[in-house]
Amino acid sequence: MADARTMQCLLAVSLLFLVAHAHAQLSTTFYSRSCPSLETTVWEVMKQAVVKEQRVGASLLRLFFHDCFVQGCDGSILLDAAGGEKSAGPNANSLRGFDVIDTIKARMEAKCPGVVSCADILALAARDGTVLVRPCQRSPTLPVCFATLVNLMFLRPYQLRGPTWKVPLGRRDSTTASQSLANANLPSSGSSLSTLISTFASKGLSATDMTALSGAHTIGLARCSTFRDHVYNDANINSSFAARRRKTCQRSGGDSHLAPMDVHSSRVFDNSYYQNLMARRGLLHSDQELFNGGSQDALVRQYSANPALFRKDFVTAMIKMGNINPLTGTAGQIRKNCRVVNR
Ligand code: HEM
Repeated sequence: MADARTMQCLLAVSLLFLVAHAHAQLSTTFYSRSCPSLETTVWEVMKQAVVKEQRVGASLLRLFFHDCFVQGCDGSILLDAAGGEKSAGPNANSLRGFDVIDTIKARMEAKCPGVVSCADILALAARDGTVLVRPCQRSPTLPVCFATLVNLMFLRPYQLRGPTWKVPLGRRDSTTASQSLANANLPSSGSSLSTLISTFASKGLSATDMTALSGAHTIGLARCSTFRDHVYNDANINSSFAARRRKTCQRSGGDSHLAPMDVHSSRVFDNSYYQNLMARRGLLHSDQELFNGGSQDALVRQYSANPALFRKDFVTAMIKMGNINPLTGTAGQIRKNCRVVNR
């Protein structure tokens, strides 16, 4: 009798644990009843934003990374309050795309008030930013984009766009942000391979995840201040590539002069980032650390030869990154305005 009771108790406790655990999990159908128009709205706003400025897809992808690495994927990066994450070293004068999140949020508040979190909007915008990468913007004077035609001759159509995936949802928004955590938790362009590996490991991401996620640097731009040391002082860099970058990035001044993260095709989400690394054409010191005689060399070789493997591992790692410490259930809140905590 006592044994049966013990069994019943154990069963009840396990069930409770399972239910609690299930609540803490994200789901790709989280808003399918409460706000079914969410994904199409995000997609429409992102499409318009990318047509207006091609780079914004890359900027939102980075914004999501910088959100997830500080307190978890909780929208804390979006808060404007003084002492927040926006003014931390890796973010100040660097992160972009906040206005796009504001536009999406305003539309969602009009359609489903108080339902969709800023953290989830950011996760979807990052995914769509990746998918919407386009080789060029159509010029108003030319009916067809020349670069698109050239690319179509050499690439399969799916390779013109970034990979897509179903985004697990159900995150809630934080009521706090932390500048000190942003300074401590985000990797820098001067990081060594071992620092990169340990920084990602501290977020539950493997070295493979880190190397795959770094492939995001196949799109977007970087400021001179982030790669100056590498192009002037590092030995492991192709000399003509370094000379080319130095032309628009002087030893002093011009900190905000921009260069493409991927010298080959910064407007196509492809695997040329890894091919660049093998040719010692990584833009950042931290990029080149992935192919510098260390543990990631073999994987860089694999990704540079196998674009499908890169895309698969990138998607896996993005979903893993999106799972870093989300606030779920009744934790946090659904902000009305992504820039401020609800009163
Ligand atoms: C591995 C460690 C990483 C380091 C050290 C790093 C560092 C940087 C730096 C210094 C920039 C240029 C910022 C500027 O000039 O303002 C940059 C840009 C960028 N990063 Fe990373 N990053 C890392 C990983 C990632 C990850 C995991 C992602 C996304 C999954 C990502 C996505 C991007 C994108 C898309 C850009 C271009 C943004 C734009 O054009 O607005 N990075 N990164």
